[in-house]
Amino acid sequence: RKSLKIAVIPGDGIGQEVMPEGLKCLRAVAKRYNIKIQLDEHFADWATCPRYLREGSMLPEGWKEQLTSYDAIYFGAVGHPATVPDHISLWGSLIQFRREFDQYISLRPCKLLPGIRCPLADKKVGDIDFWVVRENTEGEYSSVGGKIFEGTEREVVIQETVMTRIGVDRVLKYAYELAQSRPKRHLTSATKSNGISISMPYWDQRVAEMGKKYSDVFVDKFHIDILTAWFVLRPETFDVVVGSNLFGDILSDLGPACTGSIGVAPSGNINPEGRWPSLFEPVHGSAPDIAGKGIANPIGMIWAGQMLLEHFGHKEAAHTMMRAIEAALERGGTGIITPDLGGAGTCEGLGSYIASLIEEI
Ligand code: NAD
Ligand code: IPM
Ligand code: MN
Repeated sequence: RKSLKIAVIPGDGIGQEVMPEGLKCLRAVAKRYNIKIQLDEHFADWATCPRYLREGSMLPEGWKEQLTSYDAIYFGAVGHPATVPDHISLWGSLIQFRREFDQYISLRPCKLLPGIRCPLADKKVGDIDFWVVRENTEGEYSSVGGKIFEGTEREVVIQETVMTRIGVDRVLKYAYELAQSRPKRHLTSATKSNGISISMPYWDQRVAEMGKKYSDVFVDKFHIDILTAWFVLRPETFDVVVGSNLFGDILSDLGPACTGSIGVAPSGNINPEGRWPSLFEPVHGSAPDIAGKGIANPIGMIWAGQMLLEHFGHKEAAHTMMRAIEAALERGGTGIITPDLGGAGTCEGLGSYIASLIEEI
């Protein structure tokens, strides 16, 4: 098999801390399964955005060509709000990657792992195990809109939601097919068609229309407000949950929080056709509140590496990585697990422990 070419972008804040642990684990599993992985770091001077301060842009000219030849991008986190406003740093990087590389699927697991004390009462491993499929290139995240009468009392600010037939149908197709591949064959759609009276009824209509092709999938829908309540009150009833860009964003922090910590959650930004590189990253951000302390949970980053291997069909290696993560949580004890999970461990300590388990488990 040809070697996997991966572009590595650690980014800001704890992105810089969790990335070395992710790479450590990827190297360990690649060695064990004899997988050739080329890991090239890009934009090494990223942290705290010096290029933005110097040139007014987050990425150098030619960034797209620079990354296009890669099979995938392994990404830490972006955001240094003390230097650059978040919408500028994110629209100038991650959101551009998602759009330019047409990574229209955001795939995010919500799974209660062994060894984690679930914040919801009486839940055991297996009770929470579902996927959030988030539309990742349009919807509420749009640059259509503007301001008039700025700075006056008549100021008006408009930002449009954009839903295209192609954009909605392709994420629904992916979600239906994912549901179809799972034993429960259950798809839940996040909507808000009672209040958002144009785009959301359209979304519902496409869910129903697409559903005709997947008659073996049981589909239901909930308005986003009650859906967030059901995530907390009965997470065991979900299997695959599909949502628009914003709803999917919210659900994919809430879901992992219900399983203990957003620090463990990974994410695939996928271009299913493989025309462009897909991007794998933790769900969390740069966490300025804990950056530099060495206590970030590296599992989101490591699990993102696991998703990357799974994506390219390295099933055994991916399986071993998952088992190592679970074993670390079960066996590690408070000295190894990080403070977000109630331990006193460090990012480096937990990452190295998982890497050692990958070698021997
Ligand atoms: P965040 O995910 O960075 O942090 C939220 C909270 O969770 C913080 O208290 C943080 O300490 C904690 N946390 C996050 N990851 C953790 C980990 N691995 N281990 C332990 N604790 C962890 O979200 P935020 O505070 O809303 O955003 C901070 C910055 O990150 C902003 O600039 C934001 O725009 C950016 N951001 C980037 C991404 C990304 O790059 N994909 C995602 C979300 C937020
Ligand atoms: C995520 C993040 C991003 C998003 C931000 C940082 C723009 O929250 O990946 O979930 O909203 O997509
Ligand atoms: Mn988010």
